[in-house]
Amino acid sequence: MAHLAIKGGEAVRTKPWPRWPQWDESEAQRVQAVLESGEWGGFNPVVEEFEAAWAKRHQAKYCISAVNGTLTLEAALRVVGVGPGDEVIVPPYTFIATANAVRLVGATPVFVDVEPDTYNLDMDRVAEAIGPKTKAMIPVHFAGLAVDMDRLLPMAKAHGIAVIEDTAHAHGSTWRGTPLGSLGQIGSFSLQQSKNLTAGEGGILITNDEELAMKLWSFANQGRDPQGRWYEHGMLGSNLRMTGWQAAILLAQMERFDEQLARRQASARRLTSILEEIDGPAPMRWDDRCDNHAHHLYMMRYDPAKFGGMSREQFVEALTAEGVPCSTGYYRPLYEQPPLAEPFSRVMPCPVSEQACKESIWLAQRLLLAEPEEMDDIARAIVKIREHVGEVA
Ligand SMILES: Cc1ncc(COP(=O)(O)O)c(C=O)c1O
Repeated sequence: MAHLAIKGGEAVRTKPWPRWPQWDESEAQRVQAVLESGEWGGFNPVVEEFEAAWAKRHQAKYCISAVNGTLTLEAALRVVGVGPGDEVIVPPYTFIATANAVRLVGATPVFVDVEPDTYNLDMDRVAEAIGPKTKAMIPVHFAGLAVDMDRLLPMAKAHGIAVIEDTAHAHGSTWRGTPLGSLGQIGSFSLQQSKNLTAGEGGILITNDEELAMKLWSFANQGRDPQGRWYEHGMLGSNLRMTGWQAAILLAQMERFDEQLARRQASARRLTSILEEIDGPAPMRWDDRCDNHAHHLYMMRYDPAKFGGMSREQFVEALTAEGVPCSTGYYRPLYEQPPLAEPFSRVMPCPVSEQACKESIWLAQRLLLAEPEEMDDIARAIVKIREHVGEVA
């Protein structure tokens, strides 16, 4: 008889999973160099060094670093000219920052449903939602999986809609070989603590459009002109500058970035195939055109019928107790959060997003940094829970 760890038995996995964030001497040395330079703020040359490295890595002509991945979205909306009276299409199954940024520039978020097997914007539903006020779209490459850019980009072009990619989860993800973030007008990354590249907090904007790049830089630097004098401010702006400390950490993080991306993908592939083998919670679809998938999260869809009626919350508790930390993710779609409910937004029917809040289970990316073979522990824990449910039924 299997004893669930939650009832006092031995957990399937007792070995700790890889920690996140990861660091070594490289971070320490680079931070020490910033300290000793005496140039701690946004004008330390390491900031430009990081921007150049990120632009190159993402095949983008311009990169503007910033303080976080919420203000980057807000800045992107401002420079493409979104403001009061405009509508911006966003998914309701995402972190609140995506839609808050729309409201914070005075525009209206339009919530459009996602696909059931990717939780990314559903292009058929996007087509239905576009109207005369639609000025921009913020596709979120959720968990690192690319939105269907083959359909999104021509649709946006045909309607003259700006595309701001929310790449907060998709560092290093690609669509048919092109890094995400560089396909739309602007790509916006978060570097907050949980993200696949992190400085604790931070943000990045990338673009291939020179005029937008200049406006983004200017907005992030109090409306200055890059060639202008210090106290000349040609446009309305703010201060979004990343510090030297953050850039130093990020340059060190980039040394491990590609290896970690490859490791997460190898682990995710193995986990997907074993989940299918054991008929566990259903893995999400990995579109082949997304030839690199950052796997910021590994998500599964839970069906209580496969586990003798055990609720998702009980399952998450049991899996965590078996040594596989996991969560249920968002509790409700964004339009049920008071600041984003109608009349502050326009809400299209979103049954899939509502279901996603009831069925999804998230594993954090750090688990995928273990050896791919260690994914078998996750399968063993799931099988044990199912056996237990079968025995008590
Ligand atoms: C999809 C998405 N967009 C935007 C953000 C905002 O990023 P930040 O926390 O850096 O402001 C996050 C952060 O969690 C996110 O998950």
